[in-house]
Amino acid sequence: MTRTLFLLISAGLILSACSQKAADNDDAPDMIMAAPHSYSAEEKATIQATFPAPYNTADLAAGEIQFNKCRACHSVGPDKMNLVGPHLYGVFGRKSGTEPGYTFSEAMTAHNVTWDFDTLDAYLAAPQAVVKGTKMSYQGIPKETDRHNLIAWLKMETTPYAPSAGAADSASSAP
Ligand code: HEC
Repeated sequence: MTRTLFLLISAGLILSACSQKAADNDDAPDMIMAAPHSYSAEEKATIQATFPAPYNTADLAAGEIQFNKCRACHSVGPDKMNLVGPHLYGVFGRKSGTEPGYTFSEAMTAHNVTWDFDTLDAYLAAPQAVVKGTKMSYQGIPKETDRHNLIAWLKMETTPYAPSAGAADSASSAP
């Protein structure tokens, strides 16, 4: 009994130590602070409403399940860990085949697109056909809804955290 209590208390201490660390992170630039998953459900809804159709109504939970197809080769978090494939943190707005610290195929470097909703949709439908010679050995996601859910989830999870992003009406409420 005492032992259980002790374990519970230590777990609590560890948890509070972790959140303390996140709050005290002075190294981070002002607007980019922590992992994107610190958004609440309400904030996520506000952010998703700014996505273009059909991504604004996509099913994020279903998209996360789709990402299981990518997880073995890609990370999404701010630790920017390259696995078999390059990390996908900040992939929206990134030029294909340019992320420093990862060796891309010539095919991907030559692909020369900026990753956004449309270019990701085209690529993920048939990676090998769209980027001939890519070393991403994945056959693609044929079903459009599956791709849309995945891409909406990716946008939410890979966009650097901005505390104001989820605030409703932040622009128009200024006096
Ligand atoms: C078997 C491993 C593997 C799987 C599974 C995989 N990828 Fe990849 N991916 C790679 C590799 C390797 C590259 C680098 C391709 C190259 O250089 O030609 C890549 C490249 C990419 C790029 C281009 C990144 C950039 O910076 O240009 C995107 C976007 C991407 N993958 C998304 C996905 C998504 C989303 C999934 C899941 C549907 C997925 N990948 C599944 C291995 C994989």
